[in-house]
Amino acid sequence: MAEDTHRGTTEPVLVIIPTYNERDNLAPLLQRLHVHLPEAHVLVVDDGSPDGTGELADEIAAGDERVHVLHRTEKAGLGAAYIAGFRWGLERDYATLVEMDADGSHAPEDLPRLIEALGDADLVIGSRYVPGGALVNWPKHREVLSRGANVYSRVALGVPVNDMTAGFRAYRAHVLATLRLSDVVSAGYCFQIDLTLRTAQEGFDIVEVPITFTEREVGTSKMDGSIIGEAVVRVAQWGVQRRFGQLRRLLQRR
Ligand code: GDD
Ligand code: MN
Repeated sequence: MAEDTHRGTTEPVLVIIPTYNERDNLAPLLQRLHVHLPEAHVLVVDDGSPDGTGELADEIAAGDERVHVLHRTEKAGLGAAYIAGFRWGLERDYATLVEMDADGSHAPEDLPRLIEALGDADLVIGSRYVPGGALVNWPKHREVLSRGANVYSRVALGVPVNDMTAGFRAYRAHVLATLRLSDVVSAGYCFQIDLTLRTAQEGFDIVEVPITFTEREVGTSKMDGSIIGEAVVRVAQWGVQRRFGQLRRLLQRR
């Protein structure tokens, strides 16, 4: 087991993969993952996918002790799936908890680099929007939306992170144990912004490492208008709360 300098050990690693209708993507992804990170455990968090992703995950788990499955009854959003996965991992004392999409957009080849960077940070974000980061085959409208969401969030929240909506990240367990996960109500993709903000507010070190995000070849995105709407409203609320907090501190000083 690898020990690093001052932050203690980053092993063992749990990679949490939320799934909704990813049946054709799951097996090849898990194979690729274990080529590059043979020791890592995986937790598939499936929301009762109608296409049988959950059953397939069970079959894989039956033959591979590194693979675990958490079944949830209905599609309740990416955020809720990750909260459940974090709880599962914290209860079992994994030192590092990784977030990764099931559709191949996040390359397992990048995982060792992400985890290594945790030696100097509490949260490592696989970033599309730092030098060296890239997008492959992403429709232009998704790129515009994603870049826009990042500018909007950075201005509203004042967090110096370039890819706040990124879904490829590695957390040290103590960060997630410190954040009050039961307070997190973000259901959709704004969950990523939410946790980035909370991690920054607690004073933890956040590092971005460049990754190449490649659009899925199989299946469809679960992004929709309600996910965008939730993000717009919540980020505005957090931004207002932040301004009021600044104002309160300013008045107290006078
Ligand atoms: N369990 C569960 N429940 N999984 C879900 C749900 C849900 O409600 N919604 C999405 N997922 C899973 C998908 O099956 C996939 O593994 C992963 O979450 C990402 O979903 P996609 O639908 O592929 O997301 P995307 O490609 O449109 O969006 C990407 O970019 C976003 C914005 O930057 C992802 O990387 C997101 O994480 C990211 O926030
Ligand atoms: Mn995707």
